[in-house]
Amino acid sequence: MEQSIESYIKTLVRDVIGQTLGGLEIQSDRQTYVIANWKMNKNLNETAEFFQKIHSSPDVSVVICPPVQLLYPSHLFIKQSGKPLGLGGQNVHWADKGAYTGESSATMLKDVGCEYVIIGHSERRQYSFEDDELVNKKVQQAIKSGLIPIICIGETLGQKNAMQTEQVLSKQLFGALKDIDSSQFILAYEPVWAIGTGQSATAELAQETHAYIRSVLKQIIGQKAECISILYGGSANEKNASEYSAMPDIDGVLVGGASLHAESFDAIINVFAKGEQKS
Ligand code: PGA
Repeated sequence: MEQSIESYIKTLVRDVIGQTLGGLEIQSDRQTYVIANWKMNKNLNETAEFFQKIHSSPDVSVVICPPVQLLYPSHLFIKQSGKPLGLGGQNVHWADKGAYTGESSATMLKDVGCEYVIIGHSERRQYSFEDDELVNKKVQQAIKSGLIPIICIGETLGQKNAMQTEQVLSKQLFGALKDIDSSQFILAYEPVWAIGTGQSATAELAQETHAYIRSVLKQIIGQKAECISILYGGSANEKNASEYSAMPDIDGVLVGGASLHAESFDAIINVFAKGEQKS
């Protein structure tokens, strides 16, 4: 996991620099991430096959988030392959341990090789009724335990049509980051209307929204906001990846459907590894 240690150190250095420079502008060299969210997909054989086929790149942090049952086998497959791939959970409980049937603690995730965890995905907000307060508790727990949270925010189609996108994102951000005094997190802007629909946001709209998210982030954590990677998610694939990678405030992608096949996921990694000239 050399790459992850490197990225951890990078973030730490930025953290310190951010605090030292206070209000000054920071020229940032943000980490690029290509993250796979497998959701409730794949069996053991398919997982083994995926890790055999997938490639990595020194220029991109690649993180795979399999379902919880496949985390430990994935950790072993990654070790066996020698590829610098990161591993992440798709959810975490806010408590250290206890009588919470079906849940996983941050310590358990770390124990099976995770360094990252997705928090506040819209599917969990919808099906498991996770609200901003719960998301915040989970973010606190992840950071306290040394996991890097990948915090998902995004508006629904109804909210978009009612022109409430900025209001929704701002509320989600302030909620998720309440009392968080750290820049050890990743943000993913995932418009709910774009997830799994094939209706991806245009790169221009995503860029505009990411810039807005960064401006809100500045209100919350100051200039350190320049150092936070903001990923786009929602029907990202090998065809639209290069448009996103060219945008100055898009620091990678969180990929669902197109991450299930090593070939398409590899193609996305390659696009971000080439480091398209940011406009
Ligand atoms: P999608 O999912 O790429 O299949 O739209 C993205 C996500 O839900 O993280």
